[in-house]
Amino acid sequence: MVQPNVIDERKLNALKVLASQSAQNAYAPYSRYKVGAAVLVEDGRIYGGCNIENAAYPSGICAERVAIFKAVEAGHRKIIALAVSTANGGSPCGACRQVMREFLDDDTPIFILNGVGELVEEMKFSDLLPRSFGPEDLQISA
Ligand code: THU
Repeated sequence: MVQPNVIDERKLNALKVLASQSAQNAYAPYSRYKVGAAVLVEDGRIYGGCNIENAAYPSGICAERVAIFKAVEAGHRKIIALAVSTANGGSPCGACRQVMREFLDDDTPIFILNGVGELVEEMKFSDLLPRSFGPEDLQISA
């Protein structure tokens, strides 16, 4: 019997590949720090994102949020795995963690990759953002 909480290895591999590929499309002329991200949703689709900077610095956006927002715009509300790729295996920023909180569960796997696509770290979402504020605090189910 298929375990509902076990994710197909091939999907996870495709997720990691897309995160790495998406970093190549990063628009990061100011920081020169390219980030790629990808999210896997329940029906098996995968959405990629890259950071997109702006001459007015705060108007830029992180790779993770681009990927999450693309999935949400396509009608998805539950992300079952997320991968992020940077040259040095950097960790998601605080703002992205809070956006993840809306669409990931505490035990959703997060994969941190380096610039050559190697897995640097794997964790569950609650390791990134423990004791978090979320929809339940407003008594709303996402
Ligand atoms: N960045 C991301 O895309 N994701 C993160 O989680 C950390 C930071 C981007 C934002 C900015 O374009 C560049 O990396 C340097 O901060």
